[in-house]
Amino acid sequence: MTDSDFIKVASIDEIPVGQVKVFEFDDERITVCNVSGSLYAVSDICSHDYALLSEGEFENNEITCPRHGARFDVTTGKALCLPAVVPVQTYAVELRGSEVWLSPTQPAKPV
Ligand code: FES
Repeated sequence: MTDSDFIKVASIDEIPVGQVKVFEFDDERITVCNVSGSLYAVSDICSHDYALLSEGEFENNEITCPRHGARFDVTTGKALCLPAVVPVQTYAVELRGSEVWLSPTQPAKPV
């Protein structure tokens, strides 16, 4: 992963603990989630069918699809319950000082 893959997208003030914020890159919609002060980024598109995860409930490390209720762990992208079985794509995100930097091309390192 090179530093040039990362884009400065926000200030941490824009994504408080327990909140999400969506960023769009060409065809990609990526949701950055603040889990207790740590940032995680996943695709905003549910892997079951089309729905925007950022419009669902977000609590602790789980985001719930607003359409059929599948839950995903945003730290890993894993689907936690049916009807979704396929994980959502994760993306590398870093906090540099108060700046949020996101890579729309690189997956997150496994946690
Ligand atoms: S579209 Fe998300 S659970 Fe069906």
